[in-house]
Amino acid sequence: MRPSGGEDPENEKDEERADLELLGILGYPLGHSLSPAMHNAALRERGIAGIYLPLEVPPPSLAGALEGLRHLPFRGANVTVPHKEAAFGLVDELAPSARKAGAVNTLQRRGGLLIGHNTDGAGFLASLAEADVDPAGRRVLILGAGGAARAVAAALVGAGAAELVLINRHAPRAQELAAELAEGGPVRAAVWEAMEEELGRAELLVNATCVGMHPRAGESPVEDLSALPQAAPVVDLVYNPRPTALLARARAMGHPVLDGLGMLVHQGALSFGIWFGEDGPVQVMRRAAVAALEAR
Ligand SMILES: NC(=O)c1ccc[n+]([C@@H]2O[C@H](COP(=O)([O-])OP(=O)(O)OC[C@H]3O[C@@H](n4cnc5c(N)ncnc54)[C@H](OP(=O)(O)O)[C@@H]3O)[C@@H](O)[C@H]2O)c1
Repeated sequence: MRPSGGEDPENEKDEERADLELLGILGYPLGHSLSPAMHNAALRERGIAGIYLPLEVPPPSLAGALEGLRHLPFRGANVTVPHKEAAFGLVDELAPSARKAGAVNTLQRRGGLLIGHNTDGAGFLASLAEADVDPAGRRVLILGAGGAARAVAAALVGAGAAELVLINRHAPRAQELAAELAEGGPVRAAVWEAMEEELGRAELLVNATCVGMHPRAGESPVEDLSALPQAAPVVDLVYNPRPTALLARARAMGHPVLDGLGMLVHQGALSFGIWFGEDGPVQVMRRAAVAALEAR
């Protein structure tokens, strides 16, 4: 039962907390997450009394954690690795963005029900737009076939990419994803051995693998970029380190480059919009994310 307040300062504190907006991120592990720094900065900037918490949930506990969220006074939450696909099957309603992505990265709590959204794809497109890269009409080569590749590929199909080619270390995963997405647009899979040929045709390269991510910062998913036309932008969804080995190499060869921080910030700003009706302050969130990254 809730404390009744009165003269007791501890109870008064609890009463105050009842007015706080509660938000958080469910993932496992969460030590790496920049989302609490980003969202707490956004709440401060908007003058919203609230807190965004890291909520570390091991996979077997996800269903229980979501059931808890239904009953707790949370406005919503983000969902990250490894729970995005599992959350898709556990929410009460799915927004079109989540259906399209086949995964949930944002939960909105309404009347004790959880509505699943996905802002990853729109966040990716917003980061491209910010860098003045229009994917419409381009042949895009995506490395990877995991959750990030799925979100990005679905968004690129929707944005009118001329062709999407998926290359993954384990080829069957790319074939399955390409077959699924091919219903909506021109998507096919290729094998790793065809990399040079596919690079030669690409007009935009996206790394959606985790190769090059801290602590294996020296690694790059592609060793030789010489076949890629110089005008083709290179995007790496990895944002730690900045730049990744792939982006450092691409930049040295004259390609326009973009790291994953923009996608992270924009997907967060869009989640904020789902919760509060107005997108989060992108520049404030970016500064907070960069500061948290640099403080590590
Ligand atoms: N910027 C953002 O906002 C944002 C959002 C989401 C994700 N990301 C980043 O995107 C990356 C992928 O995330 P995810 O959620 O898609 O992860 P995931 O579902 O676990 O998929 C990982 C992908 O990386 C590939 N991979 C792993 N190790 C590899 C290696 N040594 N060589 C070649 N390929 C390898 C996997 O290939 P196999 O299938 O062959 O194992 C798979 O395609 C992560 O670095 C994540 O931080 C960034």
